[in-house]
Amino acid sequence: MNNEPLLRITELDKFYYVKKSLFGKTHEIRAVQALNLCIYQGETLGLIGESGSGKTTLSHLILGLIPPDNGQITFNQIDVLHLRRDVQIVFQYTYGALDPLKTVYELVSEPLKLHQIQFEGSLEDEVTRLLGLVGLSSGLMYRKTVAISGGQKQRVGIARAIASRPKFLILDEPVSALDISVQGQIVNLLIKLKKELGLTYLFITHDLKIARHLSDRLAVMHQGVLIEVGTTSEILTNPQMSYTKKLLGNLYNE
Ligand SMILES: Nc1ncnc2c1ncn2[C@@H]1O[C@H](COP(=O)(O)OP(=O)(O)O)[C@@H](O)[C@H]1O
Ligand SMILES: [Mg+2]
Repeated sequence: MNNEPLLRITELDKFYYVKKSLFGKTHEIRAVQALNLCIYQGETLGLIGESGSGKTTLSHLILGLIPPDNGQITFNQIDVLHLRRDVQIVFQYTYGALDPLKTVYELVSEPLKLHQIQFEGSLEDEVTRLLGLVGLSSGLMYRKTVAISGGQKQRVGIARAIASRPKFLILDEPVSALDISVQGQIVNLLIKLKKELGLTYLFITHDLKIARHLSDRLAVMHQGVLIEVGTTSEILTNPQMSYTKKLLGNLYNE
């Protein structure tokens, strides 16, 4: 890790305004509040917190998919809105996130075309190379995603995310919908890819067991606020906030 952060988030706010009923008062949801966070080249930062704590909102802000109300996000000191190619996301792919009628070939070639990526050989060669990186054989290339397993779909999702040769991957609950045995395979694949491709990860999960296994540092989010950040061992052995202690308590009581 060097000292200049790859990603720097400064005083970030995102509020949603929702009406509970047609004529009701507008209700403010502080999905992300005054959030400051740096992520360094080569690390895995695990972002943990209960459902509704603002993790996905933060990931969408980093991707530039939604604008913040206040604050700044820079990647290599450049505003993220200009960086759609360097920062990519892997979602939870098992349930319909990939168009079921598209073939693996179509899905993996889309980002190559979108970002006009240069590569050696034909498009088919490049798709084969990407499938190889995520442990899929080229024999799957012309299958539709309805005809492949959950773990295979997740691998296709990862191939799509790395196709544009990003430097930074956001993984938003990438294994939460998978069977335990498949979860381990995907986690190992992510560890391998990070090494091979020199990636930096923001790993979002509500699963502390996976977070602690993968993360160099952990950041704890609660009701839109980043309440605690530290090395994984600091957070696990010496949490400062009572909310973090409660989260960890659940881990050990399982
Ligand atoms: N588009 C939206 N409109 C209104 N409220 C939203 C929207 N997206 C998220 N929220 C609210 O913002 C909060 C944070 O949600 P989210 O970022 O999805 O949390 P997490 O990923 O940690 O489960 C929740 O209260 C959620 O209901
Ligand atoms: Mg979420």
